[in-house]
Amino acid sequence: MSETEVLLPDDAGLDRAAAVLRQGGLVAFPTETVYGLGGDARSDLAVARIFEAKGRPRFNPLIVHVPDVEAAREFAVFDARAEEVAARFWPGPLTMVLPLRAAGLSALVTAELPSVAIRVPAHPVAQALLRRFGGPLAAPSANPSGRVSPTRASHVLAGLDGRIAAVLDGGPCAVGVESTILGLVDGPQLLRPGGIAVEDIEALLGPLPMGGSQEKPNAPGQLASHYAPAAPVRLDARDVRVGEVRLGFGPGEAELYLSQSGDLVEAAANLFHMLREADRLAQGRVIAVAPVPEAGLGRAINDRLRRAAAPRGA
Ligand code: TXA
Ligand code: MG
Repeated sequence: MSETEVLLPDDAGLDRAAAVLRQGGLVAFPTETVYGLGGDARSDLAVARIFEAKGRPRFNPLIVHVPDVEAAREFAVFDARAEEVAARFWPGPLTMVLPLRAAGLSALVTAELPSVAIRVPAHPVAQALLRRFGGPLAAPSANPSGRVSPTRASHVLAGLDGRIAAVLDGGPCAVGVESTILGLVDGPQLLRPGGIAVEDIEALLGPLPMGGSQEKPNAPGQLASHYAPAAPVRLDARDVRVGEVRLGFGPGEAELYLSQSGDLVEAAANLFHMLREADRLAQGRVIAVAPVPEAGLGRAINDRLRRAAAPRGA
């Protein structure tokens, strides 16, 4: 494929992006969590191209992005609880897995499951693109399968340049970790910790059991090794060892750190960029990551770090 076009998120750029999508092409676009690799969720060809561009080994189900809850009701069945969750958290970094309504999505998007993962992103560029395109967009994170997710347009190009038609450059993503995935098919279940703190959802629904399993993961983000930099990663590093690149939680601990103010929201926003920076400095040396508190967005950060540190090829 020819070179990837970098588009500004102005009228001309959004028109061009929508035209590419209408022809079944792929456009990476910013959301508040990470950059998504968007394709028409109704087109088997466009969805197959997403798997091909990412080099995903299997056809895992993808998240369907829509501009609002009305559009979401076209594709998924909402009960009273799902309506309540949507009213509280959409638009925003929460994905719901709901019963599928037979309404024209590609069977590749749902991997032929009777359910669908659906999300209403808050990012103004994602919103503008969805409205211009006028249909649902399947969009996994815009990175080669198993690697660190992109939170800047430059990260997208580093992994997918020449493999996708275009990227809309909307600057750095504010949240920085993928959406929280809430399953509502067999009672509420947490399928992936993410950009909405689990505690905030539990305040509405009560305690959330963790769903899915290692043997038969519902989400590739549930695979043991994922979000992997090239360098090995050592977690909970309280000491400094010779020849390691240290990634601190707050400043003062290391030259590279996740948050200026020791804040979990800021740490989440910086996580994937800092993993890339550490990888660049490491040149094969170990990246030693300081402990991160296991609360709020810390659950999503630690989840991604555990997978970044997991034995490869798992
Ligand atoms: O923040 C995000 O959610 C980003 C941005 C781009 O929106 N998107 C994202 O999409 O992370 P993706 O496709 O990489 O991850 C969504 C996960 C998939 O791994 C998939 O396994 C899971 O949601 N999923 C999709 N449909 C499902 C279903 N019917 N049941 C259970 N899990 C499902
Ligand atoms: Mg991903």
